[in-house]
Amino acid sequence: MNFLTDPFLVSPSRFKAPILVTGAGGCIGAWVCAILSRSGVPVIASDLAKNPARAALIMGEEAAETLDWTALDVTDGAAVADLVSTRNIGAIIHLAGLQVPFCAANPALGARVNVEGTINILEAARHNQIKRTVFASSVAAAAFPPGGPYKETLYGAYKVANEQTAFVYWKDWQVPSVGLRPNVVYGVARDQGISSKNTIGIQAAALDEAYDIPFTGPYSWLYAGEAAAAFIAAVSQDGAGAHAFDLNGRCETIEAGLVVLGRLSPDHRVTASGAPFPFPPDLDEAPLRAHLPEYPAISVANGVEATWRAFTELKSAGRLPPLPE
Ligand SMILES: NC(=O)c1ccc[n+]([C@@H]2O[C@H](COP(=O)([O-])OP(=O)(O)OC[C@H]3O[C@@H](n4cnc5c(N)ncnc54)[C@H](O)[C@@H]3O)[C@@H](O)[C@H]2O)c1
Repeated sequence: MNFLTDPFLVSPSRFKAPILVTGAGGCIGAWVCAILSRSGVPVIASDLAKNPARAALIMGEEAAETLDWTALDVTDGAAVADLVSTRNIGAIIHLAGLQVPFCAANPALGARVNVEGTINILEAARHNQIKRTVFASSVAAAAFPPGGPYKETLYGAYKVANEQTAFVYWKDWQVPSVGLRPNVVYGVARDQGISSKNTIGIQAAALDEAYDIPFTGPYSWLYAGEAAAAFIAAVSQDGAGAHAFDLNGRCETIEAGLVVLGRLSPDHRVTASGAPFPFPPDLDEAPLRAHLPEYPAISVANGVEATWRAFTELKSAGRLPPLPE
């Protein structure tokens, strides 16, 4: 399904040494690995264990099996340091993390993975003079300082800690970095968490099942390929400073997405009900786009169509997973 990655391919000449991707088994990590691999850029995929299942949905099972995988727990500082120094890493795309419910269920583990893990990455960048590090912050950081309109979570607090830690790494040791705050990602391989429900709706239509997306109104539609492309663009040049940017995608209503779906699948049984999603749908992407080399902006029409097409092709091949619980 090369049509998924084709819009986002990059020139290998931008990259002189392998890129380490942490959390490569997750949704954004799978897209990053698929795009880099098809672009011919050396990539080392890492996660707690080898997990090419999501990448296989995007790039095919055979290609996903050929990815250079290594098991890496980002809470293990010595292992991170060893990998970065021995594998000649030139850039780091740090995506490993625990999501909102997992941080709430086990706050200490959440802090170890999300905060200490990021410190271990910055520390490895510092000792190996790496000038290209990007890490995943989150729209959840927008809830701080507290008292604003958005829900404060431990997850968001940890992401704020990462942004401020990165600032000190630049100020004290000139370790450059970019923190990207993705809003709601949708697309193939987005299969868990409350913000995955618009993707699940498209999957339900492909499976010919009824499904109700539990919110309505304005929404951030950040196509997974576009999110991955932003992370890749952030390491395609040497950095200076510690930046944090919102990564929003298109602000459109859930209902507008269902209109697109209706054109592709007129008989679908996907509905939307409930209140708007409790995070800002329209963060300003202009500062990010001014800072990074150009990368594609995907309309809701194109993103929903590509996702629908991929799900129907996966279904025909008997490879479309059932709807998550
Ligand atoms: N998907 C979104 O809408 C979204 C929005 C905002 C921020 N983010 C952030 O972007 C990053 C990637 O998001 P995603 O949707 O791909 O997440 P995901 O949950 O799909 O993947 C995260 C990956 O991290 C791995 N991981 C967990 N603990 C680890 C550890 N100790 N060491 C190494 N790997 C570990 C998991 O196994 C998983 O594969 C995360 O940091 C997330 O917080 C995502």
